[in-house]
Amino acid sequence: MKQVLGIIASQRQLGNCEIMVKEVSRQLEVPHRLQLLRLPDFRLRYCNGCYRCLSRGGCVLNDDLNVILEAIAAADAVILAAPTYFLGAHACLKGLVDRGISFYAMAERLWGKPAVGIGIAGIEGKEGSTLLDIERLLVTLQADNRMSRIIYGALPGEAVMHEENRRLAGELADALFGEPAARLQPCCPLCGGATFRFLGDGRVRCMLCSNTGELEEGPSGPTLQITQSHHEFVTDRVAALEHQEWLKGMLARYREQREPLKEVKAAYQDETPWIRPSADQAEASW
Ligand SMILES: Cc1cc2nc3c(=O)[nH]c(=O)nc-3n(C[C@H](O)[C@H](O)[C@H](O)COP(=O)(O)O)c2cc1C
Repeated sequence: MKQVLGIIASQRQLGNCEIMVKEVSRQLEVPHRLQLLRLPDFRLRYCNGCYRCLSRGGCVLNDDLNVILEAIAAADAVILAAPTYFLGAHACLKGLVDRGISFYAMAERLWGKPAVGIGIAGIEGKEGSTLLDIERLLVTLQADNRMSRIIYGALPGEAVMHEENRRLAGELADALFGEPAARLQPCCPLCGGATFRFLGDGRVRCMLCSNTGELEEGPSGPTLQITQSHHEFVTDRVAALEHQEWLKGMLARYREQREPLKEVKAAYQDETPWIRPSADQAEASW
């Protein structure tokens, strides 16, 4: 019996994210047990950029990160769903991505976990970066993103009222433990990302793996010729491990440069007034 974890990045109970995850589970033919985790219910502090997780083997912040990571690591597969809020995925998703350096400590258990992603948008074409945001969490988790799609539905429950969306749920279910779905086209040949920035002169940058290349017009539509750069952490495990080593090198560089950096910073330490949070917020433990 497979253990499947549904991650719901929406506050809404029985909203489209929750219902679509349950629909994928219903259509999943592999015997499994679905467990759900509502991301905004968890106490997840902002990453404070200390990099101590690199030397300490995990994050130093006292919150629920490990509960979430442990649930992901224990599952055989993940179904992730996030709603679009103002042209991007709900902020709780980014909150988890930002803690990603500490995921390396669990890389052995996270690597290659089958996952599918669902971005929900209320208005067709208004999903903005939601698919990219979902894919970014999956690559940061070092999961095997087998299919990620945008599904449209505004009112809670509306997503499953459309036949096309129920069909997509079936495809997501098939992809989770079966053959990965065909990639959206055009897509980055290295990482499968489908969001690009145009750099001029026919050159593009993939917004998921950051590699660049040429956009070419082929007989069956545009294709992308993208080559891997040296600065990489998305496309494969070797690249991810190299990136981790590079980060550790940064830590060593910081230690070496601590004194000159202190001098630079001291010149900016003045009495400029700060607006402070309310006492309640300041006193909150997170
Ligand atoms: C604050 C807020 C902002 C939203 N922004 C967008 C948006 O930019 N584009 C869009 O297509 N839908 C937007 N929506 C609609 C939601 O993505 C949609 O209702 C979705 O079904 C919510 O999923 P849920 O029911 O799982 O929470 C927004 C909804 C809210 C509440």
